[in-house]
Amino acid sequence: MNLESVLNEDIQHKSAVIQLSGGVPLRGITTVDGSKNSALALIPAACLASEGWTKLENTPNISDVMVMRGILEELGMSTQQNKTDLTLFNRVKSGEISKELATQIRASVLFLGALTTTLGEACVPFPGGDRIGDRPIDMHLESLEALGVKCTTSGGAVYAKANKLPLEGANISLRFPSVGVTENIMLAASLAKGETRIENAATEPEIVDLAVMLNKMGAKISGAGSNTIKITGVEKLHGVTHEVIPDRLEAGTLLVAIAITRGHGIIKDSIPYHNRTLISLLQNIGYKIKIYKNSIISIDSPAKLNPFHIIAMPYPGIPTDMQPIITSLATQCSGISTITDIVHPERFSHVNELRKLGANITHVGNQSRVVGEEKLSGSIVCGTDIRSVTTLICAGLAAEGTTEVSGVEHLYRGHGNLIQKLIDLHAEIKCIQGGS
Ligand code: EPU
Repeated sequence: MNLESVLNEDIQHKSAVIQLSGGVPLRGITTVDGSKNSALALIPAACLASEGWTKLENTPNISDVMVMRGILEELGMSTQQNKTDLTLFNRVKSGEISKELATQIRASVLFLGALTTTLGEACVPFPGGDRIGDRPIDMHLESLEALGVKCTTSGGAVYAKANKLPLEGANISLRFPSVGVTENIMLAASLAKGETRIENAATEPEIVDLAVMLNKMGAKISGAGSNTIKITGVEKLHGVTHEVIPDRLEAGTLLVAIAITRGHGIIKDSIPYHNRTLISLLQNIGYKIKIYKNSIISIDSPAKLNPFHIIAMPYPGIPTDMQPIITSLATQCSGISTITDIVHPERFSHVNELRKLGANITHVGNQSRVVGEEKLSGSIVCGTDIRSVTTLICAGLAAEGTTEVSGVEHLYRGHGNLIQKLIDLHAEIKCIQGGS
C-alpha cells in the first residue's frame, strides 16, 4: 500500500459518477460493514504495540483505511488487507508523515498522540478530511501539552516533542466532548506514567471500541462510554486480534434509504442500540421498526410521514453525520421540519444540491428548515463529503427520473459497498466512469 496506489484509486473515483433512477420502493435484506470511524482510531492504536502483531477483523474496504495503511507504511510498519482482515506488522521507526497522506483524512491527527508516546516525537501535517466547516485541532494540541508534549506549528505541520518519555498522566477537562481529542488522549496516555482523567469525554461507541482494543493490548482504561475516562499508564502494550464494531452510520444511511423510498427491509449485522435515537426518530415520523437478536433491524413504511424537529449533537443524540441524510428524508414528510447541527454548525453543503432536486429548504446559521411533501425530480448534483454524497443518493432514490451524483471519491472514503447494498435492495443504481 504505497502513496501511488492510494492516489491512483482516488483519481479513478474522481472521474466516476453515480447514476440512479428514483421512485422504486426499496425492499429486501442487507448488511452493514465495519465502522470507518472506529477503524481509523484502532489503526494508530496498533503503533503502540512493542510486541506481536495486530489483526483488525471486520475492517471496511474504504479509501480512508487505505490512506491510514499508507501512513503506517511511511512510518516503517507493514500492512496487509485480506478481504476484511487488516493485519499490521513491525514497529514504527519514523515519526514523520507526508503532507500528501496526512492532508487526505482527519484521523491522521491521531498519530500525534500515538507517535509521541512511543517515539517521543512526531511531525504531522495539518489533517484534512471532510470539508464540513471549520475543524480546528486546538484541543488536540492543548491535551497533548497537558501530557508533557511541546507542540509547535510551522510550514503547515505540527511538530510534537515529548519533554520526556514516558509522558506524564494529567487531568484533562474538554470544553467540548470531541471524539478525536478523546481518542488522541487515550492513545497517548495508555503508555504515560501515572493516571490520566478525561472529563467531558466523548461517549461515542467508537471510543468504547478503542478502549476495548487498548485494554486487550494491556492498557488500563475504565469509564469509556461515560463522560469520565480514567487511564492508568502501563509500560508496554502488545498486538492483538480485534473485531471492528459495525458502522452505525452505514446502518443509519441504509435505514433512511429504505425509509425515503417508502420501502421495507431488513438490516443485519448492526448494533441497533447504537442507533437508538435515530430509530426513535424514525418511529416518531411513522415508520414501524422492530429489533431482533440485538443485531437485526426491520423497517416498514407508513402512508403518511410526520414532520420533525431535531438537533444533531454528541452521542447518544442524533449524529451530525446523519444530519444531512435526515434532511433528505424531511423533504418527504407532511409539513415543516427543522434540522439543527451543533457539532458541525457549517455542515450544510447538501442544501443547495437538494434544492436542485426540487427540495424546498431554507438554511440560516446552523439550521435547515424543510417544507415537506415536495415532489423531487432527478438532476445532476455534486456531493462534497461522504455524507453529502449519501444524502444526494437517498434524495435521488426518492426523486422521479434520473439523478447523477458526482463526488464519488468521497463515497468510497466511507463506504466500500454501499452501491452494491442498494442494488441488493432493488435500487436502480450504478457507478460509471464519466457521466453526462
Ligand atoms: N473541535 C475543536 N477543536 C479540536 C477538535 C474538535 O474545536 O481540537 C470541534 C470541531 O470543530 C467540531 C467539534 O469539536 O465542531 C466536534 O469534533 P470532533 O473532534 O468530535 O470530531 P472529529 O473527531 O474530528 C469525528 C468523526 C466525524 C464526526 C465527528 C463528530 C472520525 C474520523 N471522524 O471527527 O466523522 O462528524 O467525530 O461526531 O472519527 C464522518 O464520518 O462523516 C465524519 C465527519
